[in-house]
Amino acid sequence: MKNPTNTERNVFGLINFYSPKIYWLMCLDSCRINAYENAIRQYEHEPEKAVWLDIGTGAHMPLARLLIKYGVAKHVHAVEANCQTYQFAKHLREQVSEEEKRKISLHGCYSSDIYWCEQDPRPNAIIHEIVGSISSDEGCIKVMHDTIERLHGNISFCIPYQIGTLCIPVSQPRISLISSLCSFLLGKSMRIIKHIGIQGMVNPPKNAFLCDTPQLIEDFILKDYTAKPLEKCRIYTTKFIVTSSAARWSGFYLAPYILTSKDNKNGSVEIDALRCLTSWPVRYVQMYDHENGIHVRQGDEICVKFESDLTNECPTYRLEAWVNNSYLVRSSFAWRGPAIN
Ligand SMILES: C[S@@+](CC[C@H](N)C(=O)[O-])C[C@H]1O[C@@H](n2cnc3c(N)ncnc32)[C@H](O)[C@@H]1O
Repeated sequence: MKNPTNTERNVFGLINFYSPKIYWLMCLDSCRINAYENAIRQYEHEPEKAVWLDIGTGAHMPLARLLIKYGVAKHVHAVEANCQTYQFAKHLREQVSEEEKRKISLHGCYSSDIYWCEQDPRPNAIIHEIVGSISSDEGCIKVMHDTIERLHGNISFCIPYQIGTLCIPVSQPRISLISSLCSFLLGKSMRIIKHIGIQGMVNPPKNAFLCDTPQLIEDFILKDYTAKPLEKCRIYTTKFIVTSSAARWSGFYLAPYILTSKDNKNGSVEIDALRCLTSWPVRYVQMYDHENGIHVRQGDEICVKFESDLTNECPTYRLEAWVNNSYLVRSSFAWRGPAIN
């Protein structure tokens, strides 16, 4: 990722990055779609149908259409900020059923350009998938915060219910032939970065894990967290105990963990992008230059401090880590989201 803390980055860098291929891959991601579909179905028996706001509806409007399919929406306001994507969705809307045409209003702009309170009917539920590989890095915290504020807090339902970011320390990963091929097809790098930095990896090798269990370094119950004033400096600290035998620690994998609903019976509304292959690339954050990794042994502690400023649609992050008591030889890497390489 070049110039990782460039303050001129803005959210339209990401919005314009979305291409027809990406929407197609996201719709083929059965883990993602099933989790959203199962959450939507949980509202089938609600006596009062909600008016939903689908933020970032995408080219195929999958979430808006599922809301209509399962009869859980009185109306859906679907908003999309990418101009080409909006045109595609507009064209699609002309071809769908009469019920979908009647119940879906499509808006071609950034979500905060509309004063949702003045819309008729007025939304009282939110659905979106503006969740990044680092769950907050597509600006969803700020977008949700602004939307809820503009609706004067009158939100009954929110899908997803909870988003988080899983973290696990790793040794320098070696990409298999299959992963290289997948990365090539998805336009991601086929090589591991040589210097401190961050990169997206498709199906990264799990044998690089230095511990048994990942931990959440971000964890938000979205409706509650975004209804409060946003934190300028959010700090999370934790420790990992190394379980693998002698290895060289080089960085971390980061991946999203999403519960589309509170009721996660049989794991039906869960997306764990570290465990399953999804359309989200796992982020590899390399904390040391190539071959300068730190030797660790079973029982060693890898201490982590994760700082973020989520008050902007392009959040800023800093990951700092050290082994055992060696705080003075800590390594630190800062970047501005979203990482799109
Ligand atoms: C990850 S895609 C999800 C698309 C679709 N909802 C789906 O689930 O397949 C996110 C979409 O949200 C759009 N987007 C992101 N933030 C937005 C905002 N604040 N207002 C409107 N569109 C937004 C992007 O352009 C992109 O099309």
